[in-house]
Amino acid sequence: MVAVAFVAPYLLDATARFVRCVAALPGVRLGLVTSDPLERIAPELRDLLAGHWRVDDALDPRQIAAGVAGLAGQIGRVERLVGALEQLQVPLAQVREGMGIAGMDVATAMNVRDKARMKETLRAAGVPCARHALVHDPAQARAFAREVGFPLVAKPPAGAGSQATYRLDDGAALDAWLGAVPPSGDAPALLEEFLVGQEHTFDSVTLGGATVWSSIADYYPPPLDVLRNPWIQWTVVLPRDIGGPEYAGIHAVGPAALRALGVTDALTHMEWFRRPDGSVAVSEVAARPPGAQLTSMHGYAHDFDLFAAWARLVVLGDFDVPERRFAAGTAYLRGVGRGRVGAVHGVAEVNRDVGHLVVESRLPRPGQDAGSDYTGQGYVIVRDQRTEAVREALRRIITGIRVELVEAL
Ligand SMILES: Nc1ncnc2c1ncn2[C@@H]1O[C@H](COP(=O)(O)OP(=O)(O)O)[C@@H](O)[C@H]1O
Ligand SMILES: [Mg+2]
Repeated sequence: MVAVAFVAPYLLDATARFVRCVAALPGVRLGLVTSDPLERIAPELRDLLAGHWRVDDALDPRQIAAGVAGLAGQIGRVERLVGALEQLQVPLAQVREGMGIAGMDVATAMNVRDKARMKETLRAAGVPCARHALVHDPAQARAFAREVGFPLVAKPPAGAGSQATYRLDDGAALDAWLGAVPPSGDAPALLEEFLVGQEHTFDSVTLGGATVWSSIADYYPPPLDVLRNPWIQWTVVLPRDIGGPEYAGIHAVGPAALRALGVTDALTHMEWFRRPDGSVAVSEVAARPPGAQLTSMHGYAHDFDLFAAWARLVVLGDFDVPERRFAAGTAYLRGVGRGRVGAVHGVAEVNRDVGHLVVESRLPRPGQDAGSDYTGQGYVIVRDQRTEAVREALRRIITGIRVELVEAL
């Protein structure tokens, strides 16, 4: 038996699925460290748990450590400490190191979490990426702008979901950003050279330091463009064939980047740009399953369950390499503006045309808060053996379905 502690601040959809997959592994005794009291956990999930430890803040390493120590009385000495959230990766590594639990160490977790440190490490290893500076005051920011020129990207050093990420086109935009969110010694910001080209992912499994599986997705367009243009509905395509010349660069650079960062055993989500001249620039790396439906999409493209495969990987340390059989893609449905979802138009017509390719969907629900995420209020996932059929279906979906937002009451 392996005693596993899973840390999940709250049991939202994807997290609950990862927890179920860990619980379903043979020979696993699972304890959960969470902010949800036991009685609030869905009964079918509760029944899978051999232990439960409630904490106020599941991102705090001290509270995680107390939870792991407390769970020992319920499930035995914890041998694996896991969690799927980006913000957990460094705290989990700190607790592992402090308590002698095997798994990713703090230095590696920080390399894939702190974007300034990540870029320094990549650069030092000769892995191509945007020039950057961690700036602590306006003078440093202006000096970097003089050196690199515009446009620039400004972002938090450890952000997620494109939050507080801006494209700065000129000195006026830089001044406006410095005025709105001035970087300081306590709260530095990351400035980067602006990368042009196509944005993609390189999601992969590393075992014993070797890349044993990888999958590539194409973003249309880059998430930052989606955020800056309210009328754009984002799409992501996993082409059926990722062996072509356009991806040859990342098949070499991706594993090199992971080696440089010290990743030896993990499922990682990497974003990269293919510049107009064909060259690769690594944008960021995270040591967790990808978000935004990508974990499901990889499953559809390979006819397997990446949620379950991640669980096996982090708990048992093995991975069965799947064959890529399909192209898959997601259209993210997003209304223009803010407020709440009023209605969703065009679904019947689109369904008539491409419904046979749809493998999963969640339509925006009337009354649902619109939020401010580039992934919008719902999604449709399609798959086919032909990549072009997937691209065409996504075009049909985003041109045919219109989410109408109404002012919040
Ligand atoms: N140096 C850059 N050049 C061009 N676009 C960038 C750059 N850095 C980030 N972006 C855009 O902003 C988005 C969010 O930035 P990213 O570093 O991926 O942060 P997050 O962790 O929030 O996903 C990216 O997906 C990309 O579209
Ligand atoms: Mg990103």
